[in-house]
Amino acid sequence: MKEYGLYIDGQWVPSISGRTFQTMSPTTDEVLATFAEGGREDVEKAAKAASKSSLKWRALPAPKRGEILLRAASIMRRRKEELGKLVTSEMGKVISEGKGDVQEAIDLLEYIAGEGRRLFGETTPSELRHKFCMTVRQPVGVVGLITPWNFPFAVPCWKLGPALVSGNAVVYKPASLTPLCAATLVGILEEAGLPPGVVNMVTGPADRVGVAIVEHPDIGAVSFTGSVASGRDVYMRASALLKRVGLEMGGKNPQIVLEDADLSLAVEGALFGAFGTAGQRCTATSRLILHENIYDDMLQRLVSRTESLKIGDPLDPAIDVGPVCSREQEDKIMRYIQAGKEEGAKLVTGGTKLTGEPYDKGFFIEPTIFEAAHGMRIAREEIFGPVLSVIKVRDYEEAVRVANDVEYGLSSSIYTADLNLAFRAIDELEAGITYINAPTIGAEVHLPFGGVKNTGNGAREAGSTAIEEFTEIKTVFIDYSGALQKAQIDE
Ligand code: UN1
Repeated sequence: MKEYGLYIDGQWVPSISGRTFQTMSPTTDEVLATFAEGGREDVEKAAKAASKSSLKWRALPAPKRGEILLRAASIMRRRKEELGKLVTSEMGKVISEGKGDVQEAIDLLEYIAGEGRRLFGETTPSELRHKFCMTVRQPVGVVGLITPWNFPFAVPCWKLGPALVSGNAVVYKPASLTPLCAATLVGILEEAGLPPGVVNMVTGPADRVGVAIVEHPDIGAVSFTGSVASGRDVYMRASALLKRVGLEMGGKNPQIVLEDADLSLAVEGALFGAFGTAGQRCTATSRLILHENIYDDMLQRLVSRTESLKIGDPLDPAIDVGPVCSREQEDKIMRYIQAGKEEGAKLVTGGTKLTGEPYDKGFFIEPTIFEAAHGMRIAREEIFGPVLSVIKVRDYEEAVRVANDVEYGLSSSIYTADLNLAFRAIDELEAGITYINAPTIGAEVHLPFGGVKNTGNGAREAGSTAIEEFTEIKTVFIDYSGALQKAQIDE
């Protein structure tokens, strides 16, 4: 079995403590690899290596930095099958989605490589003669990236791509459930020609490695994707040090279906939104808000489609839903299912952990649908599993009120044929993303991604906003008059 160290200054090295941990398959429980368990001193080494390399890296012309990302994307294209299988083996999403995860990483790298030839600033007239004003973008220096396990290729690339093309060196802490994907990604960046020390990967627990990254004085900005509780901790520690932070956190994403909607389309959307990736996306549909006139019809169709989903080995292309990622996730989801029953929600389908062959060794939970009331915990808190709460409403206004009445605001969706209501929903749904006649999942990399309320802190990843987290703006005044000119004072 393979053993991996930490990746610091272009070398794979053991952790200072010598401790290790294992990464497992959520399908078979077999050990996939052993990893070094880093700590504060390892982050110290990684930050030092990053600081050392950052001056040379920022001096490399940005288009050349972009070329390295493009080469990494082409290596991934060549290896897409194998990498997709790796994602599926380590994280448990079905193979079509495993490949999709890799494709999203490729898309992002290809998109952001072009930023090397943009990194646009502005020019504007001066109030004085023979004086020129402009802005230029500069890297922050060293940035810390902390990423989740649910998109082990895509989300790290959402952060690594923009951070690197902008000229930053990186200390990267991947999720402890998917370090093998992370190590493979780092290997690809190395093969693509990234100089040693520009990306340093420290695996290990959040409360040591994550905290050390956030608190390290040489790390100027932190980008984090994960739970609200962890994100809040990152934000509080980093803000005390006046660091820049980008946060992407949870969702309780609603799909509204009005009475004039195409119900077959809405059923397929809900099915994919709620049970794709076994519900383990921050954009997953976890609330289905149905107009009372189509409630029974839609629910019945959805239940019958849900019961036809095939659950099992995610490497098998005939399977629709794989395992959830870990025993802790499984326990948490099962506790929510129990809570739903206790608070009086009606379990319509699913609700059990699957046992027997081939499920015994893995973490398989049936796709689960509750008829819930607005305000119940299962309809309010992020579950991050294959559990959907269906809520009945009287009209559009109530649908939007219910949709908005949660702490989160990442993604949202409305199915309707009424153009006026669709546009009103764009105005009125409190979310960073709104889909019309499409499910809440499936964001594309060339558009900004992020949420409002407790989902984020105003940062947007990907798209035209991708580099904002990782660049500082410098304002430049060039006086070519040869005389001292005084702004605000000279007439
Ligand atoms: C996430 O769940 O962390 O919109 C990201 C989507 C994906 C990205 C999800 N493209 O479903």
